[in-house]
Amino acid sequence: MGAGTYRTLLAVPESWPYGKIPVWVFTRHEFPGISGADITFVRGDVEEFHPDIVYDAGEKNVLLAGGANLAGQFMDCGLIDEMFVTVVPVALGAGRPMLPVARATQPGALLETRSEDTGLVQLHYGFGDARGRQAPA
Ligand SMILES: NC(=O)c1ccc[n+]([C@@H]2O[C@H](COP(=O)([O-])OP(=O)(O)OC[C@H]3O[C@@H](n4cnc5c(N)ncnc54)[C@H](OP(=O)(O)O)[C@@H]3O)[C@@H](O)[C@H]2O)c1
Repeated sequence: MGAGTYRTLLAVPESWPYGKIPVWVFTRHEFPGISGADITFVRGDVEEFHPDIVYDAGEKNVLLAGGANLAGQFMDCGLIDEMFVTVVPVALGAGRPMLPVARATQPGALLETRSEDTGLVQLHYGFGDARGRQAPA
């Protein structure tokens, strides 16, 4: 995650949602850690850190929690293979780009959709090799 997302979570450290799961935070600033959490602070080229992050995840997936700026850097390097977009039926009138990339991506393949009675719709896309991936049952 990026520093903006970490700052939001740091405001309520007792609600840290990741337990002891390794978390990597990209920042050019100094931040305190959170008691009991496994956090690595890094700065620079996301491509450089990607192998270590994947190694840290072991057999599991890497979740890029956000925000949008950091996610865009990974997307520009072709390092995002799945994306979950939740459409919330509210018009804001202004805001940030959902995924600020340097150049347009190839189209993602829609793997799955889920809807809730609240009106939220989750869209699950695959990119690159994940375009043909089956969504988990
Ligand atoms: N809707 C969602 O699903 C979702 C998901 C995640 C977050 N959010 C929200 O989005 C907001 C934060 O988003 P954001 O786009 O402002 O912030 P962000 O991506 O979480 O953080 C941006 C910051 O990350 C650091 N950073 C980014 N790339 C870096 C790099 N390559 N090397 C070193 N540092 C790097 C920089 O921090 P420094 O200035 O410290 O260098 C930059 O200012 C929060 O309010 C959060 O709650 C929403």
